[in-house]
Amino acid sequence: MMKKDVYILAIESSCDETAAAVVKNGREVLSNVISSQIELHKLYGGVVPEIASRKHIEKINQVTEEALAEAGMTLDDVTAVAVTYGPGLVGALLVGVAFAKAVAFAKNKPLIGVHHIEGHISANYIQNKQLEPPFACLVVSGGHTHLVVVKDFGEYEIVGRTRDDAAGEAFDKVARAIGLGYPGGPKIDKLAKEGNPDAIAFPRAKVENAEYDFSFSGLKSAVLNYLNSCEMKGIEVNKADVAASFQKAVIDVLVDHALHAVKEFGFTKLAIAGGVASNSALRERFIKECEIRNIEFYYPSPVLCTDNAAMIGAAAYYEYIKGEQSDFDLNAVPNLKLGER
Ligand code: KG4
Ligand code: ZN
Repeated sequence: MMKKDVYILAIESSCDETAAAVVKNGREVLSNVISSQIELHKLYGGVVPEIASRKHIEKINQVTEEALAEAGMTLDDVTAVAVTYGPGLVGALLVGVAFAKAVAFAKNKPLIGVHHIEGHISANYIQNKQLEPPFACLVVSGGHTHLVVVKDFGEYEIVGRTRDDAAGEAFDKVARAIGLGYPGGPKIDKLAKEGNPDAIAFPRAKVENAEYDFSFSGLKSAVLNYLNSCEMKGIEVNKADVAASFQKAVIDVLVDHALHAVKEFGFTKLAIAGGVASNSALRERFIKECEIRNIEFYYPSPVLCTDNAAMIGAAAYYEYIKGEQSDFDLNAVPNLKLGER
């Protein structure tokens, strides 16, 4: 018997992107609509939760209609409705969750709550149709820095995590300190190309007795101290050198830990995910290091790295075929842990 195609309408609203997508059989993106609020939050130097929630409410209908139209579908054609229910900003998450529940209830469709990080990891399934677990995945976003063992679809073990700032958070804070504005990651990425990554010796932090854990707050302080001391001595700061040297310090640690985990756990495959995974220098380094070591390296295209709903649809597909569904009492869980339901 032919297997029936599964079309998932996915909704994502955990931070400052209102997004909806239609994904076929977990791997094929029929539409991926993203309404970014970056321009609004830029004025404040970061995401303002209250503004984010209000904008999500304004946009979610339109974004969903666009996603369905682009996919050439109506709500009746959809197999299930998926939504990010954590982690993230509670007010922002609630908009997506309430919306998805209403649509699923009205159209009598299954509802699937998805973990945001599981979504980020699953972006790799869209990009690489052959990729299957097990593999190691480095998740680096604005809120998370996790080294994850993907044992099977939907089965994860976190083997390393940040003790303080997330990698993306460090990019954003350093960018702000050198006057690049929000969001800092892409701006540092660009400016670093003009700088010398070995100009300034910033620290590569190790966490004692936790070889896969990360710590970025010391690096952030070192950059701030460097900027202060230059100011006090009346030395003009070369921003491109600061950006390049800071970026290299982050990348050194991320690459080192990820490759170490791949070796220790005996994997042949490594994937990266999350907003920082779109960093061009990080990708180049991983491509090079993995080639030397004969490791298959997987990375999503930039639009699938930063927040989007297609990745949520991919993750939801594997929950759906396992028979996992959410009840209509699904709630937003701002500090949801990976692997919890
Ligand atoms: O995954 P994401 O869109 O949202 C979260 O779930 O947090 O990640 C956003 C983060 C921000 O901190 C942003 O500065 C960072 O990803 N980012 C980058 C780049 N593009 C986005 N960091 C470094 N280089 C980039 N090219
Ligand atoms: Zn994210």
